Amino acid sequence: MAKMIINGHEIEAKAGATVLEEARKLNIDIPTLCYHKDLSSFGACRLCTVEIKVKGKWQLAASCQTETAAGMEVRTDTDNVRESRKLAAALLYFRYPQAVVVRDMAKKLGVEVQAAAADSQDCILCGLCTRTCHEIVGVNALTFKDRGLARDIEEPKIEFNSSACIGCGSCAYVCPTGFVRMEAVDGKRIIWDKVFKMASCQVCGRYFAPVEQLEFISKTTGVSVSQMMTCVSCR
Ligand code: SF4
Ligand code: FES
Repeated sequence: MAKMIINGHEIEAKAGATVLEEARKLNIDIPTLCYHKDLSSFGACRLCTVEIKVKGKWQLAASCQTETAAGMEVRTDTDNVRESRKLAAALLYFRYPQAVVVRDMAKKLGVEVQAAAADSQDCILCGLCTRTCHEIVGVNALTFKDRGLARDIEEPKIEFNSSACIGCGSCAYVCPTGFVRMEAVDGKRIIWDKVFKMASCQVCGRYFAPVEQLEFISKTTGVSVSQMMTCVSCR
């Protein structure tokens, strides 16, 4: 536990917690687009900016990437913070003017948003899918090709490793824009253009998981595929 101050309130921060996590415990609204509580932080959107006092001077910092420390002082609602978040939202809006999630966020943070000719489901390079794939599922089917300043922001740079993908669909569930499409057709799941055969429940007959996902779980847990052929509802 570390004693620190957020917006004038003294709190005891949990060891290793980030400023964002502690601020949210106080119900302080901090906007985010690339953060997920179960994933490592990525620092892509810069919407979660706060001010932190360093050697007597207030400095801007991404709250999702800043670990709390004893004696730290944080402000989340100053003109400087609001301007910085608005600028980050404006940059995202400039890059992805039709992405609904970006438009909504930009409006919320005070950016003037024009009517869009059409909504889009652009990839905003938030990294939620790649981190979910590595950190939660435990496979490396999705990776960023490049993340440096020289990266091409016109085209999404996510690389799909077809042979590693098990078709679990976690990337589609976590994607905030709908860029990752998943379709179910005649006992098959199609995702990232790869077609997966679905296993059907031996009790109700419903298709419930890709065979490759069951094989992956079997390999990592030692439970045989035949023992997993019942869907969650029928167990
Ligand atoms: S595909 Fe979706 S989750 Fe993945 S980086 Fe793009 S917007 Fe984020
Ligand atoms: S949520 Fe902190 S940089 Fe995106």
